[in-house]
Amino acid sequence: MSKSLSHIFLPAFGGAALAIAAAVVVANRDYGQSKIETLEDRIAQVEAQASAASEMARAEAERATALDVKIAEVQAAAAERMESGVTLIASAPDADGRYGLGRAALVDEIAAWDVDVLPDGRGLPEGSGDVFTGEEVFAEKCASCHGDFAEGVDNWPVLAGGFDTLGDKDPVKTVGSYWPHLSTAWDYIHRSMPFGEAGTLTADETYAIVAYILYSNDLVDDEFELSHENFTAFEMHNKNGFVVDDRSELEYAQWRKEPCMENCKDSVEITMRATFLDVTPEGGGDSVMNHATTNDTPTFSAVAASDTNAQSVDAGTADVAAVDPALVETGEKVFKKCKACHAVGEGAKNKSGPQLNALLGRTIGAIEGFKYSAAFKAAHDEGRTWDETAMTEFLTKPKAYMKGTKMSFAGLKNEDDIAAVIAYLKSFGG
Ligand code: HEC
Ligand code: HEC
Repeated sequence: MSKSLSHIFLPAFGGAALAIAAAVVVANRDYGQSKIETLEDRIAQVEAQASAASEMARAEAERATALDVKIAEVQAAAAERMESGVTLIASAPDADGRYGLGRAALVDEIAAWDVDVLPDGRGLPEGSGDVFTGEEVFAEKCASCHGDFAEGVDNWPVLAGGFDTLGDKDPVKTVGSYWPHLSTAWDYIHRSMPFGEAGTLTADETYAIVAYILYSNDLVDDEFELSHENFTAFEMHNKNGFVVDDRSELEYAQWRKEPCMENCKDSVEITMRATFLDVTPEGGGDSVMNHATTNDTPTFSAVAASDTNAQSVDAGTADVAAVDPALVETGEKVFKKCKACHAVGEGAKNKSGPQLNALLGRTIGAIEGFKYSAAFKAAHDEGRTWDETAMTEFLTKPKAYMKGTKMSFAGLKNEDDIAAVIAYLKSFGG
């Protein structure tokens, strides 16, 4: 049946099959074609990418080589500089008190900073420039602010004229009328102008500009050329207009004295101890300076003969040697808690509490001029004195020992602290 069926159906199916096959071939061919095109495109793309990549790689390789060369150059330069630096350091004698830090400045480095020009011509570089050149440079670089003829645009400084105005209420002070030294103009312009582009003028340009400014001030004719050779010969209009104020009570006279360089004093006077100044405070916040007014600051004037001053810094009394210095030192720290209200030491003044010099053995409440509480006055009238026991009890709990005291201090909890602060107070006598 299948045979006959196929036979029967053949024309129909066969036609269809043919048609389908043809379609498939066509489709296949189309598919194949576009596939090929796609592949070709892709290949072209990949090739392009590959060549771009290799181009990049080549560029990078080139750059790397260039960098290598650069690095080698930099290294060589650094080595060279190190070498010259090392030579300089090595040539600096060890014995002259240097600390072995840094290196001596190189000649070029010094030259780059050393640009000042002095009235006597020192510092002027070689060079020259005439009025004509100056006019050109000035027009290009300066005139926008200072005007074509240095007359000043708007409020920008005027650089010329004003000669007869120096005695007026509103003098016009210009380079021409006022400046006593030409070197100032050269130096200032070379160093700082054009405004915003400082340091760009060459030496010759500067000579030319200065020549032109002199010309603008009618101080030279248009043939004038300024150079390092004729520079100092030029005299400014106002060169005598400045006088040194050497009145004896003013600075000039003060600093012109020959300074004493040796054996200047027969005696050395200690006027203050670093600990009282709290120049190196340990705890911060506790500084006597924070509490005391200048008047309250304890002052020292233990006059010491110069030859013995080193040993006598601490000399308050002969007892000092008997006191344990370590204990005194601890006591000094403890005393920071008292310092806000009490001063001790020579010249110590009353603060909100009485001064505490020569305390041990002193009658309670004995400092004249200090307003003690009633409790202290009573103890004073009874003739009670401060000894170590009384001090210890008082400092442990002031309010318990002296009912009604106005010393608002809770007391020291640590026995050792109390012993230490007493030792410290003892070092100031008593
Ligand atoms: C952009 C504006 C500007 C330009 C350009 C300029 N200056 Fe100035 N110049 C100033 C100003 C602003 C001052 C005042 C600066 C100050 O007082 O600190 C000044 C001050 C000066 C003074 C001192 C004046 C005085 O009596 O105190 C001189 C001299 C001077 N300039 C010269 C020049 C020269 C020369 C050039 C060109 C090479 C130049 N300036 C370019 C703005 C300018
Ligand atoms: C807040 C301020 C204050 C502090 C802190 C303070 N005192 Fe006083 N102190 C006073 C006053 C005020 C008196 C006077 C008491 C009175 O009259 O009642 C006084 C009195 C004394 C007296 C008696 C002096 C005399 O002349 O009889 C001694 C000793 C003393 N203080 C030691 C100390 C010591 C040591 C410390 C630190 C550990 C200390 N004080 C901390 C305010 C203070």
